[in-house]
Amino acid sequence: MKYNFIYFLFFILSSCVYNEITLDNNIDCRTNETPSFQNCIKPLINVHCIGCHSVTSNSGSLDGYEAVKNMVLNKNLIGRIQLDMPLNGLMAEEEINIFIKWVNNGSLDN
Ligand code: HEC
Repeated sequence: MKYNFIYFLFFILSSCVYNEITLDNNIDCRTNETPSFQNCIKPLINVHCIGCHSVTSNSGSLDGYEAVKNMVLNKNLIGRIQLDMPLNGLMAEEEINIFIKWVNNGSLDN
């Protein structure tokens, strides 16, 4: 019984750690100074944004490169992810930094 509880605690703790790292290739995305749209930005959006920002969403689409770039240029995407997006809780700081680096590199379709 005691051990079950310890396993349970371990499970809870390890799932917290896991939640912060949502990218399969997160190491590359975090250390790369020029993170790619396909490998880093798109997977992050699929995990954190697309539920509320699909093509048909009233809150605006983040589906695909053109839509994301439009939000960066015209809707203050970088400001919002540091302030209040996702609405249900900000991303991990290192994930936010991946977006910032991508934009600093010219928001390329890479
Ligand atoms: C739980 C739902 C939800 C999630 C998840 C979410 N958003 Fe939003 N978002 C909204 C809603 C609702 C609005 C419209 C109201 C507002 O602007 O606050 C919005 C608005 C925005 C806007 C401004 C759009 C405009 O037309 O002015 C940006 C930029 C944005 N979100 C980016 C993001 C990004 C990037 C993510 C993922 C990292 C994200 N959001 C995740 C609900 C969400």
